Amino acid sequence: CRVLVLISGNGSNLQAIIDGCDDNLQAEVVGVISNKPDAYGLVRAHQNEIDTSCVIAHTGETRQEYDARLLNAIEKYQPDLVVLAGFMRILSDEFVQRFEGKMLNIHPSLLPKYTGLHTHQRAIDANDTEHGASVHFVTPELDAGPVILQAKVPVYADDTADTLAERVHEQEHAIYPLVVKWFSQQRLAMVDGIAMLDGQAL
Ligand code: GRF
Repeated sequence: CRVLVLISGNGSNLQAIIDGCDDNLQAEVVGVISNKPDAYGLVRAHQNEIDTSCVIAHTGETRQEYDARLLNAIEKYQPDLVVLAGFMRILSDEFVQRFEGKMLNIHPSLLPKYTGLHTHQRAIDANDTEHGASVHFVTPELDAGPVILQAKVPVYADDTADTLAERVHEQEHAIYPLVVKWFSQQRLAMVDGIAMLDGQAL
């Protein structure tokens, strides 16, 4: 399974997926694309001898124009799976539909709670006692695709958004490589908008 990872920043999830693929002969990270030229994840890719590209947004460009350039860059890698790992851009419906059932995202909340940004602070502000991360198939509606796997963490009274984010991140690094592995083993699919593992709805 040829895995292409899209990033914008640190790339700690990218690193976890690269490490996971080292133990999984069925999956290989064939490329990393960033919309930010200074994303640290690009350094991680180079350290692991993985090819990289940058697709930087031009001023005045429409979302469709950007996505067309991104699609071009992605297709060079002929991926079987596109993994969004901290890619901080909203993708057009046409783009998402092109990779239906073949694109994953990780979101730092227990979806359907807290789509969008600042999830850790929002969980603290709501006095939630648990929080977490979700891996889901990407569908046109932001952070609303079918959930494949979640990991929960406790929220402590003295947590800040940073301490909570760190706890969630550790879990992200466990669940994302596992989902990529399932996909590479052809155990995972999206059928009629439902995530299925080994033929069972999740
Ligand atoms: C993670 O918290 C992920 O849930 C969110 O963006 C962050 C990316 O972190 N989508 P990293 O770049 O993988 O370290």
